[in-house]
Amino acid sequence: MKAILLSGGSGTRLHPITLGVSKQLLPVYDKPMIYYPLTTLILSGIREIMIITTPHDLPQFQRLLGDGSQFGVEFTYRQQPSPDGIAQAFLIAADWLNGSSCALALGDNLIFADGLSTKLQEARQRDYGATVFAYQVRDPERYGVISFDDNGRALTIEEKPEIPQSNWAVTGLYFYDRRVCEIAANLRPSDRGELEITDLNRVYLEENSLHVSLLGRGCAWLDAGLPDSLMQAGTFVQAIQSRQGMLVGSPTEAAFRMGFISLEELYARGKSMIKTDLGKMLLHLAENYETPSASYSQ
Ligand code: TTP
Repeated sequence: MKAILLSGGSGTRLHPITLGVSKQLLPVYDKPMIYYPLTTLILSGIREIMIITTPHDLPQFQRLLGDGSQFGVEFTYRQQPSPDGIAQAFLIAADWLNGSSCALALGDNLIFADGLSTKLQEARQRDYGATVFAYQVRDPERYGVISFDDNGRALTIEEKPEIPQSNWAVTGLYFYDRRVCEIAANLRPSDRGELEITDLNRVYLEENSLHVSLLGRGCAWLDAGLPDSLMQAGTFVQAIQSRQGMLVGSPTEAAFRMGFISLEELYARGKSMIKTDLGKMLLHLAENYETPSASYSQ
């Protein structure tokens, strides 16, 4: 399986901040926003990742992330000339995907959940259908909303409904089988002129192959698209890291846990950032590492 990390868009809800810099490069506490969904993809066990962003922002992403070798993965970069919808990612990446199954993560979404790693690996290993993750929110009308029948089967999926059928929002992390590009190619733009990810998900739902993994109480899903949610995401990461002494959203740690980089590489990465708490925590992890931790789950 390959993955797309989608980091374009216009970030209009964060103007004027995003007039000068891409939303996904803004800090969420001590790391650039894109580190968080990147960590999620690495924890899924995916090593070939395409980063899609605007033509204007692409050089900055390349400067930050390089070729991926620091995380033991391989990055490919591609432009989305204008923000014509999330599902357009599959048209942009079609030749690169070349019939492979694909995960998609939105560059401004942060998921932190106990046991997430296991759920991610399950989703990656499913070779037919799609998997989405749903999370209960107070303001479902801002998101794609999924409703269920009495047996817990997905019934409807709607984009930003005026009257939501439930309060389960679909998060910005999706896993699709190898048919995804073909299905995306048949979508029509919505009234707002975008190729909607919700329309793509509806195709899977209607053929009964949409798996919905519920993220329950105790999980955090934050999208950092508004001044308040950006601030909340930063405060959340700060609270966990300083209270538990554990990193949230470190692709370096995730790469190490997944066996993508060696203990020596982890040590070197920590040392190279020794002036920061992040570097110190990586170094601490390298120095105290003994056996794989069964409880590691972010
Ligand atoms: P949105 O939050 O829907 O859009 P946005 O980031 O442009 O922000 P705003 O609403 O404030 O203008 O996008 C969700 C994510 O998907 C975000 O990471 C940007 C990305 N995206 C693209 O990369 N290309 C697109 O065409 C769209 C619609 C979104």
